[in-house]
Amino acid sequence: MTNPTDFLLYADAVAKRYPDGDVRALNGVTLGVRPGEYVAITGPSGCGKSTLLNVLGALDVPDAGAVYFKGEPLATRRDLDTFRARQIGFVFQSFFLMPTLTARENVQVPMFEGPLTARAERVKKATDLLELVGMGHRASHRPKQLSVGERQRVALARALANDPPLLLADEPTGNLDSANAAKVLDLFAQLQKARGLALIVVTHSDEVAALADRVIRMRDGQIVSDCAPATTTARTVSG
Ligand SMILES: Nc1ncnc2c1ncn2[C@@H]1O[C@H](COP(=O)(O)OP(=O)(O)O)[C@@H](O)[C@H]1O
Ligand SMILES: [Mg+2]
Repeated sequence: MTNPTDFLLYADAVAKRYPDGDVRALNGVTLGVRPGEYVAITGPSGCGKSTLLNVLGALDVPDAGAVYFKGEPLATRRDLDTFRARQIGFVFQSFFLMPTLTARENVQVPMFEGPLTARAERVKKATDLLELVGMGHRASHRPKQLSVGERQRVALARALANDPPLLLADEPTGNLDSANAAKVLDLFAQLQKARGLALIVVTHSDEVAALADRVIRMRDGQIVSDCAPATTTARTVSG
């Protein structure tokens, strides 16, 4: 029998309805993600991908079902803001960087909910993370002085501010050209390997999905398939 404690993140029969327009966005989604796993979520626009990511990341609460992190139900946590800041990194299609802050300052924002108390430590950590994503030379720039691809790399550094074991990304390459998208995806792959980071990436891109360990396809608020990327099947068919 499946047990939530076997997983880093476990969603059990999660349902979510938006009263506005009476939309049933999630209709009984069950899914477990293990530490270090790379999961892609695909499906047509409006099928509930973003809603699922928000519920998994404790940005939104389900109407029914439950989400567990390391076997503990999110619904009973009272420290949700701190929990989120420390355990989950978020990367969105639009990066939501603070326009008045430099790249180095933006990366430090989540650290105020994290374990680093000394300012010097936070600055060093932010500097190191910007180096990691290849943005060390732009640390003092503000978002509007950066290209779109560079902004997404800063947002990725920010998502890693507190070394979370889980990264949630909602169409993270949706606003990027193919060269910048490839850079961001390379970083994801490196992070997954080097840090044992679990990644859940919502994507329209078959190339992104092909890099994942698992591809989950959704339709009308439900999971319709959950398996290894299609490339193996394609090879089997043609070979
Ligand atoms: N805040 C909201 N209020 C009402 N309906 C919403 C809201 N957010 C999303 N929806 C609806 O819920 C469904 C799922 O949306 P979403 O999770 O954003 O899908 P996806 O990310 O797959 O495009 C869609 O039909 C969408 O129109
Ligand atoms: Mg969406």
